[in-house]
This record gives sequence, structure tokens and C-alpha cells, in this order.
Amino acid sequence: MIEGHFIVLEGIDGSGTTTQTGRLADALRSRGLPAHTTREPSDGPIGMLIRQVLTGRLVVPGSTGGRAPSWSTMACLFAADRLDHLEAEIHPNLRDGVTVISDRYDASSVAYQSISSGLELDASVIDWIRTVNSRARRPDLTLVLDVPVAEANRRRRQRQGRVEIYDDDELQAALARFYTDIDAFFPTDRIVHIDANRSVDEVAADVLRAVEDLRRLG
Ligand code: TYD
Repeated sequence: MIEGHFIVLEGIDGSGTTTQTGRLADALRSRGLPAHTTREPSDGPIGMLIRQVLTGRLVVPGSTGGRAPSWSTMACLFAADRLDHLEAEIHPNLRDGVTVISDRYDASSVAYQSISSGLELDASVIDWIRTVNSRARRPDLTLVLDVPVAEANRRRRQRQGRVEIYDDDELQAALARFYTDIDAFFPTDRIVHIDANRSVDEVAADVLRAVEDLRRLG
């Protein structure tokens, strides 16, 4: 059995990773290729715990009441969720020859946890986050959806979902800068940037093209 490909979509909140994950899976399935969609935080036990943190349901005691856990605690939670996700869901599917498409992976940890540390682009912070994730399999392809912060903010407001702890304009602007240069932090990974400031169909076509290029290369 030939292993499936492991594909990851990344970008700031509101960049469209969830929509494009679904669209890519539909496109592959309509071509007769088995595809499995998933996301991080995952739907496993540690992922469920992280979602409670993101929505403010789970806090640590602070001097003025409950607060979100520190960036380093978050990095460890996300890394634990990732290894559990790989073991329970990603690897078994890949072994069965299924293409796995994940809405976010370890680039999100390098981006979100380093920036929320308040030490943007601090090499020791980034190195440490990469170290706690060093047992996580590399994706075969990472697609970064690049979108201006103002457009992503507009989409987030339209979505009117629950406010999460990273829902902050300044943080999102720093994340957008980070994603523009993300290749530098993963020099051996195959990373393709997609202009996501366009219609869903146009972005989906470019996403599929990048995956077809990968498939041609084996
Ligand atoms: P989610 O509600 O799924 O947001 P979205 O649909 O926009 O991706 O929550 C994921 C949030 O978790 C998102 O703000 C990014 C953040 N995150 C991290 O901070 N570190 C990580 O390693 C991962 C995977 C996600």
C-alpha cells in the first residue's frame, strides 16, 4: 500500500483554512482519491481541552481572577494534542493510502505561541517550540493562505462566532507578518503560498493545483 499524502493548510484566523480544507477534500474525492479532513486542535481528548481554553471556559488562577494559561503551557498542550492526533488519526489514515488534510499543524504553534509570548521572532522561543514538536511528522505540503489582516478581520466579524483568546487585531497583524516569512522557519518543508484575498473558487483552484503538482512529483 502506498502511503497517502499529508497536507496542511495554514493562515491567520479568517484566512479560510477551514473552508479550503473541505473544498480540497471534495475535489480529491470527486477524482476518486480517498481523503480525510481533520483539524488542530484535534477532536481528541487533548484537543477538546484546548478548545475549552480557547473559549475561556478553562482558566488558570491569576492575581485578578482566572486567566488563559501561558504561551509555554499552550505550546505543550498543542504539542501533546499533535502527537496524539498523529498516533490516533493521521498515521492510520496515511498508512491506509488516504490523503490527510489538516486545518492547521505545527506552523500554527510556531506562529501563535511565539507571538503570544510577547517576544515576537525571539530565536530561543521559536527553537523551543520547534523542539517540543520535533517528534511530529513533517507534512508533505503546507499551503499558507495569505490574506490582508483587514479582510480577515472582516470575515471573522461576519462569522460572529464565539470570541477566542487569540481574537485580537494586533496579534493577528503580527501573525500575518509571521506567515509571510514562515518558509524561513521550516527550510526543508515544501511550502506554497496562496493569495487568499480572492473568491473561494479561485483560491480552491490554486490549492488543488498545488496538490496536483505534489502528486505529480510522487
Ligand atoms: P479554531 O476555533 O479551530 O480556529 P480556526 O477555525 O480559525 O482555525 O481554533 C484554532 C485556534 O487555535 C486558532 O486561533 C489558532 C490556534 N492555534 C494555536 O495557537 N496553536 C496551534 O498549534 C494550533 C494548531 C492552533
